[in-house]
Amino acid sequence: MPEKLFPNITSPEINDYCKALSSMPSPILQELDMMSQTTDKPQMISGAYLGSLLSMLSKMLRPLTILELGTFTGYGTLCLAEGLQDNGLIYTIEKNSELEGYANEVFGKAGIDDQIVQHIGDAAEIIPTIEETFDLVFIDAAKRQYIKYFDLVLPKMKSGGIIIADNVLWKGKVASDDNDKLGQGLDAFNRYVNAHAEVENVLLPIDDGLHLIRKI
Ligand SMILES: C[S@@+](CC[C@H](N)C(=O)[O-])C[C@H]1O[C@@H](n2cnc3c(N)ncnc32)[C@H](O)[C@@H]1O
Repeated sequence: MPEKLFPNITSPEINDYCKALSSMPSPILQELDMMSQTTDKPQMISGAYLGSLLSMLSKMLRPLTILELGTFTGYGTLCLAEGLQDNGLIYTIEKNSELEGYANEVFGKAGIDDQIVQHIGDAAEIIPTIEETFDLVFIDAAKRQYIKYFDLVLPKMKSGGIIIADNVLWKGKVASDDNDKLGQGLDAFNRYVNAHAEVENVLLPIDDGLHLIRKI
């Protein structure tokens, strides 16, 4: 399976150990991972390790409604779908229309296309048009927009609902002196969430950094 390009925020040994002793993704996810390597930006995919965590969290929460920002090839969507209730729905938003056919094919192959509502366009514009309340939200689209996404989705979350935001440690840069513009935005997001009165949160040094946020 292809290796992801993120550096090891913890240590290479711990990273390898955790990955080696975590459950393998399903054959269809493995196939999708290989297929995604032929896209322009294969590093965009969540991949086996983060995907297994998304799947595990979704299975623990058993959500009825999920929102994903940033579909890419549908890997995260399929992982999140593993915990979805039988009558549940996943809304997923992707701005790059070239990826639509890709994800459609994958969702059909997995036999869950009737549980997925795909939107093509800018997430910040589409979120307000979706009339739904969410149990689980995965924020994984434009890194500069995370505070905006958070403010847009929070009123649509049920009490006890969970937001998972990816890449929030930005290759470890958020905690270093050579942080870049995107990292500064993610640092601002992490601080914003931590100070927000309507949520409780925990930051995890997993993969490129995950922010787990629970609406009180
Ligand atoms: C990291 S990838 C998503 C990976 C996917 N969630 C997964 O688990 O494999 C980020 C995706 O967000 C999309 N994106 C970037 N800006 C966006 C925006 N403003 N609105 C919607 N999608 C956006 C990109 O085109 C890209 O496909």
